[in-house]
Amino acid sequence: MGIVGAGPAGLMLGQLLHLQGIDSVILENRSRQYVVERVRAGVLEQGTVDLMRDVGVGGRLAREGMRHDGLYLAFGGARHHVDMSQLTGGRAITIYGQNEVVHDLIETRLETGRPLHFEVADVALDGLDSRRPVVRFTKDGAAHEIKCDVIAGCDGFHGICRPSIPASHLQTYERVYPFAWLGILAEAAPSSDELVYSLHERGFALFSMRSPHITRLYLQCAPDEDVSAWSDDRIWAELRTRLTTTDGWQPNEGRIIQKGVTGMRSFVAEPMRYGRLFLAGDAAHIVPPTGAKGLNLAMADVYRLAAALVEYYRSGREDLLDAYSSRALLRTWRAQRFSWWMTSMLHRGDSDNPFDHRRQLAELEYLVSSRAAMTSLAESYTGAPFEA
Ligand code: APR
Ligand code: PHB
Repeated sequence: MGIVGAGPAGLMLGQLLHLQGIDSVILENRSRQYVVERVRAGVLEQGTVDLMRDVGVGGRLAREGMRHDGLYLAFGGARHHVDMSQLTGGRAITIYGQNEVVHDLIETRLETGRPLHFEVADVALDGLDSRRPVVRFTKDGAAHEIKCDVIAGCDGFHGICRPSIPASHLQTYERVYPFAWLGILAEAAPSSDELVYSLHERGFALFSMRSPHITRLYLQCAPDEDVSAWSDDRIWAELRTRLTTTDGWQPNEGRIIQKGVTGMRSFVAEPMRYGRLFLAGDAAHIVPPTGAKGLNLAMADVYRLAAALVEYYRSGREDLLDAYSSRALLRTWRAQRFSWWMTSMLHRGDSDNPFDHRRQLAELEYLVSSRAAMTSLAESYTGAPFEA
């Protein structure tokens, strides 16, 4: 197996295959340090937590991950609690940074002694519609070629695998939102035990965390927002305005240790396969971060793909491989629907007028007063169990 990309998708796939004795080579164009330090989301569905544990990578996650049984929706000056565990028969989410997930998966991969090459260049695919597809790359100036049975494209949205598929074989669907998130990490103890998603007239804000000492916060901003225009004081003032509720709750403040802007996009490429190339994770689909589905979708994809590959290597049967794309797309579109819904319910749109704001408030008010509506949110947020 050739695996392009050492993000959560590629690394987890490598581990799932390793446990079944299937050889793989993972190729990553960035450095190990870059991959581990890249700050991303941090909400793990129950399925992701279970998978990490089942593949033997869940030790630190079990110790340091923060299990959350619910979340808060804030609007009209009040915080409303959604008890997700109670509504879903015990499903919860766990806060654990994606970069920690990647860190743990890399350590495990290195312990297996199986190949994981960082800082490779010129990665290119060939013979995808043959039985012997090839990955070419250069490392330290020397050219290499790997003849594979199958190639997994786990190289994210900007990778080379999806563009290696002839355009005539791919249908893409896309929505780019007219806003982005300005995100910070602050040295401050979280002032709420669970996440707070807030709708405010000035735009969306989100309270999250990484550890008992680190708070993670986001503000809706312009897609081309210039971070340098945001002094620490300005960020805190805006967060206080958008998050403080009438009971006096607000985030604790502290030294800001990281700032960045995250764009918002919904994207799906269909099918998630061309010949012997299978796409997984961000290489095939992107969701806006509201609802935190990106990492979890990537994990659900590779769980399904690994099961199909194990069946193929064991019996030669290709029916699970043939079903991979359509089955994975079902879950993907469900997550797209949910992420789009959360995003549109909580953000201020470009052309929104006061009617739209009142409509959003009505939707949130309905949501927190209807057990059926809250159950629907809780089911999607905590995520369905992964399927082979
Ligand atoms: N060759 C080799 N590696 C590449 C190439 C290339 N040409 N292009 C990109 N990569 C690497 C990237 O550097 C990255 O480490 O592929 C990896 C893809 O990882 P992610 O972008 O993290 O994607 P994925 O593993 O699918 O995980 C999805 O990541 O973007 C977040 O929100 C998203 O949480 C979701 C998760
Ligand atoms: C995060 O903690 O980074 C986070 C939490 C919830 C989201 C997105 C990101 O919906």
